[in-house]
Amino acid sequence: MKAVILAGGTGTRLLPLTKLLNKHLLPVGRLPMICYSLISLQAAGITDILLVTAPKALGDFASFLGSGKDYGVSLTYRIQEEAGGIAQALELARPFIGSDDKFIVLLGDNLFEEPLKPHMDAFRSQASGAMVLLKQVPDPERYGVPVFDGGGRIIHIDEKPAAPQTDSCVTGIYMYDGTVFDLIAEQSPSQRGELEITDVNNAFAGKGKLEHRHLSGWWTDAGTFDSLLEANRKLMGDIT
Ligand code: G1P
Repeated sequence: MKAVILAGGTGTRLLPLTKLLNKHLLPVGRLPMICYSLISLQAAGITDILLVTAPKALGDFASFLGSGKDYGVSLTYRIQEEAGGIAQALELARPFIGSDDKFIVLLGDNLFEEPLKPHMDAFRSQASGAMVLLKQVPDPERYGVPVFDGGGRIIHIDEKPAAPQTDSCVTGIYMYDGTVFDLIAEQSPSQRGELEITDVNNAFAGKGKLEHRHLSGWWTDAGTFDSLLEANRKLMGDIT
C-alpha cells in the first residue's frame, strides 16, 4: 500500500506563523509536524509516500526531508498550485497511485497516538470503497460529522454542521481504493470554492461503500492555535 500526505494549504488559522513556515513544518512536541505522519506510516510498513504541498513550501520540505531516508521512507513530491481543497490536492496523487488499488491518505496536521496498521489491515480486508477513522471530540462542529443509520453505518457526513448529530468527527485519516479519483472528478467546488473531501466520502456513502472504525487513542488536529497547543502538550506527554 502507498500513502499520500497532504501538506499544502495556506494555514490561515495559524497566521502569522504560517507566513514564515508551512503549517506542517511548525514544531510540535520535539519535531516538525510533518515528521509524525512519516513515523506513523513507516511504523505501519508504508514507505512509498507522496507528499503534496504548496509551491512556496516545496524547497523547505525538500531541504528538511530530502529523499525521506532519515525516516526510512521514500518520498515523492507534488505541487498543489493553488489551495483548492483537500479533494483537489488528492486528485494530484492519481499518477502516483496508478493501478495500485488501495492507499491511505493523511492530512499532515492530524496527530494521533495509535498505530495505523490494524486499521489498514481492516481496510485491506474490505472488498472495495473507502474507510474513514472517527474520533469522539468535544467540538464536533469544527469537523466533518457522521450521520448513522439504524445499523450503525455512515449514511452521510455533515461538514462543520451547526447542530452536530453525534459527538464523533471524521478524522483526516482516509483509506481509498482507486475509484476515488473518478469520484473526485465528479465533484463541484463547495460554497467556499473548494473540492471537499467530505463530498467525496459522501459519494462513497451513497454507494454503500463507506466503512468506518474508531480511534481509541488520543487524536487532534493542529491547525489552530488552541489545537496546536493541545498537540504540543499531548506529544510532550503531559496529557493522557
Ligand atoms: C478537514 C475536513 C473535515 C475533517 C478535518 C479533520 O477539515 O474537511 O471533514 O473532519 O479535516 O482534521 P479542515 O481542517 O480542512 O477544516
